[in-house]
Amino acid sequence: MNQSSESTTKSVFEGEDTIIKVRDLHTYFYTDLGISRALNGVNLEIPRGKVMGVVGESGCGKSVTALSIMRMVAKPGKIVQGDITFFRKDKKKNDAIEEINLTKLEGMGPEMRSIRGAQMSMIFQEPMTSLNPSYTIGDQIMEAIILHQNVDKVEAERRAVEILDGVGMANPSLIVKRYPHELSGGMRQRAMISLALSCTPAVLFADEPTTALDVTTEAQILDLMRDLQKRIDMSIVFITHNLGVVAQMCDYVTVMYLGRVVEQATIDDTFYNPMHPYTSSLLRSIPHVGSHQKDRLKPIRGVVPDPYSKVKGCPFHPRCDKAMRGLCDVKVPGLTVVGKSHTVRCFLHSDVEEESTYVQ
Ligand SMILES: Nc1ncnc2c1ncn2[C@@H]1O[C@H](COP(=O)(O)OP(=O)(O)OP(=O)(O)O)[C@@H](O)[C@H]1O
Ligand code: SF4
Ligand SMILES: [Mg+2]
Repeated sequence: MNQSSESTTKSVFEGEDTIIKVRDLHTYFYTDLGISRALNGVNLEIPRGKVMGVVGESGCGKSVTALSIMRMVAKPGKIVQGDITFFRKDKKKNDAIEEINLTKLEGMGPEMRSIRGAQMSMIFQEPMTSLNPSYTIGDQIMEAIILHQNVDKVEAERRAVEILDGVGMANPSLIVKRYPHELSGGMRQRAMISLALSCTPAVLFADEPTTALDVTTEAQILDLMRDLQKRIDMSIVFITHNLGVVAQMCDYVTVMYLGRVVEQATIDDTFYNPMHPYTSSLLRSIPHVGSHQKDRLKPIRGVVPDPYSKVKGCPFHPRCDKAMRGLCDVKVPGLTVVGKSHTVRCFLHSDVEEESTYVQ
C-alpha cells in the first residue's frame, strides 16, 4: 500500500476525484468447454461520490467487472491480468488517500473481506443472493454493523432500525424481527439495500437492482438510492439495461462490449454526442427517456460473438456499419481521451492502436 499523490487520483472526468481505477483487467473462466474470456482488458475509472451507469448487451461483462473489483469471482473464474486500484480515504487521518491494489489481495483473505464489508458493497437483482433465509433481517444488518463499527448489540439494533427507516421501510422496528420469506419482493429489496448500506460504503455496486420490481417500487427505490448517495457521498456503479434509468440516475456512463470498455462519458455526451458506433446503436435499439414515438427502434444487426472465440481486430467490426476494411478487421483500437471527460475506443476518432488484448 502507498500513500497516493494527488495526480494518481485525478480523473479523466474533469473536476472529479477517482475512487477506483481499473487497468487492463482480464478475467477468464476455465470451463470444460474451453476458456470463456469474460473480460479482455477492461480500463475504467469510477469517480468518487458520483453515480456511474454501466451499460451493454447481455454477456458483455458488466457483472463480471463488478465481481472482479469486489474480488468475488468464483472458480472456475480467475483474474489473469490487470490492476484494480482502490483509493481509500481515511477519515481518521485527515482524509489521507491510501492506494491499495486489490488484485494483490486474497479474494477471501481478511483484508479484502474487511474492505468488502466496510468500504464496498454490492446489491443484486435477486435479494435472496445476499439475504440469509435462516436469520431475521435485524440480525443480518446488526451482524454487519457490529463487525465493522465496534458498537454493542443495543446500539447496533438502534442503527439497524434507523437504516430500515431511511430506506422507506414501514414499521422498521417490527421488520427487524421478520425473516426474509415474510416480506414482499419490494420489502426484501429494501432490506438488501439496507444491508448493503449498513456500513456506509464508499462504493456501492448495484447490479440490475430494480429489474424484478414493479414500476412504482422501482421509482421509490431509485429515488432512495439517489438521495442516500447524496447524503453519504457514496459512489454508485449502476449496472442496468434500462437507458431511461441511466438518464434518471447517472452522472457518467461506461459502455461495455465483449469484455471491454468502448466508451466512457458524461450522461449528456452519452445521449447527445455518442462517439462509438456501438453506443449509437445501443441508443437506437432501446427505448429511453426523451425518445419520440416516431423514432423507430433499430436492433443492432448480428449477435455478440461468444466469449470462447477470439475476434481479430476491433471486437465490434463484424457488426459495425462504419467498419473500415483493412483497418478495423486487422487492428485493435486503443482507448483514447477524445474530449472533456470523454474516452472512446474507435479508429473513427483516433489512430491509437493496441496489441492483441487477449491473454494466452
Ligand atoms: N461461471 C462462468 N462460466 C463461464 N463463463 C462465464 C461465467 N460467468 C460469466 N461468464 C461469461 O462471462 C461473460 C460476461 O458475463 P456477465 O455476467 O458479466 O455479463 P453481463 O454483461 O452482466 O450480462 P447480463 O446483462 O446478461 O447480466 C459472458 O459471456 C458469460 O457467459
Ligand atoms: S474501430 Fe472500426 S469497427 Fe470498431 S467501432 Fe470503430 S469504426 Fe467500427
Ligand atoms: Mg449481469
